[in-house]
Amino acid sequence: MWPDIRLLDLLDLEVPLVQAPMAGADSPALAAAVSSAGGLGSIGCALLSPEEIEAAARTIRERTNRPFNLNFFCHAEPDPDPDGARAWLARLGPYYAELEAEPPAGLAGGRAPFDEELCSLVEAVKPSVVSFHFGLPQDALLDRVKAAGCRILCSATTPEEAVWLEQQGVDAIVAQGAEAGGHRGVFAEDWRTGSGMIGTLSLVPQVVDAVDLPVIATGGIADGRTIAACLALGAAGVQIGTAYLFTPEAGVSDGHRAVLAGGRAADSQVTNVMTGRPARGLANRLMREVGPIAEDAPEFPLASPAAAPLRKAAEAKGSFDFTPLWAGQSVAMGRSMPAADLTRRLAEEAQDAIAQLSAARS
Ligand SMILES: Cc1cc2nc3c(=O)[nH]c(=O)nc-3n(C[C@H](O)[C@H](O)[C@H](O)COP(=O)(O)O)c2cc1C
Repeated sequence: MWPDIRLLDLLDLEVPLVQAPMAGADSPALAAAVSSAGGLGSIGCALLSPEEIEAAARTIRERTNRPFNLNFFCHAEPDPDPDGARAWLARLGPYYAELEAEPPAGLAGGRAPFDEELCSLVEAVKPSVVSFHFGLPQDALLDRVKAAGCRILCSATTPEEAVWLEQQGVDAIVAQGAEAGGHRGVFAEDWRTGSGMIGTLSLVPQVVDAVDLPVIATGGIADGRTIAACLALGAAGVQIGTAYLFTPEAGVSDGHRAVLAGGRAADSQVTNVMTGRPARGLANRLMREVGPIAEDAPEFPLASPAAAPLRKAAEAKGSFDFTPLWAGQSVAMGRSMPAADLTRRLAEEAQDAIAQLSAARS
């Protein structure tokens, strides 16, 4: 049925499809629907409190007994930079004034990396799968997640990152191509050098050649053709984000949905002005006028609390000018249908595409 069943065996799946964790845009209903349909549903936990994460896991378990994935960020906390923060807030000053929004007194918060508290939560919840973005947590925490019986996935944006992750004992590699919506998972090199921007078509076979682990391709995958292409490149499965934003279960507002529905490949740009790290989304006003890449943007995650009051004030007026509209280059391929139907449809289309290729060959 599938060219490589290692991922199905490893994660106990029926179809090799992972719904990408999408902090702020996924939902327990989305994850449960995908898991029920035989894929792997995921919750991006970066913006959730421990209580919210626990509640999300409970809701998923009420709906399905299939495996699901909790995803965490593993960034290093930035050094305090009050001068840089002041300068950035001054740069955004005209926008605060225009929107009559209160600028924050300083920059703090944003997103917390995986830590002792979140690790204890994982030990209590025991999801079948835990995935990490921006590298791995420190060894002691990683060992505890492994000891809790969770399978571990982590994003790699270069073959070198994939090799390092294999050496650390992860169970599968998520090879994230440059087409991908959301944050670039790059962690081994300074993203400012432009490393970690390798397209899926080039990255996946190089990662497959570099490691023995199953590889999950991600970035720009939105239908059966793109899934079959990644499986032909040697991936054992795929992780799909943007295409699931079009399902009714996704945690995005109607206005946000309408913007996504009009998104074109060329509108999907990589920016650091929303959070401080490179992330791909539909260009909004802040990205167009201040970015998309600004050398003086605060380090991740500190650009986020700077933009938050602008987002809130703009959204109150029905505008998405300051909202992160994370979406990948295949955004225009999105189809609106329930998540379980989309999961089954994607699997059938991929099977058909593989069968057609095999028939053409023989
Ligand atoms: C709205 C959105 C939010 C995302 N948030 C996360 C996240 O919290 N954690 C993570 O590991 N990846 C996150 N990603 C990246 C996805 O895991 C994945 O790499 C990407 O969606 C794949 O590309 P595609 O969007 O073209 O399918 C996000 C992507 C999107 C579109």
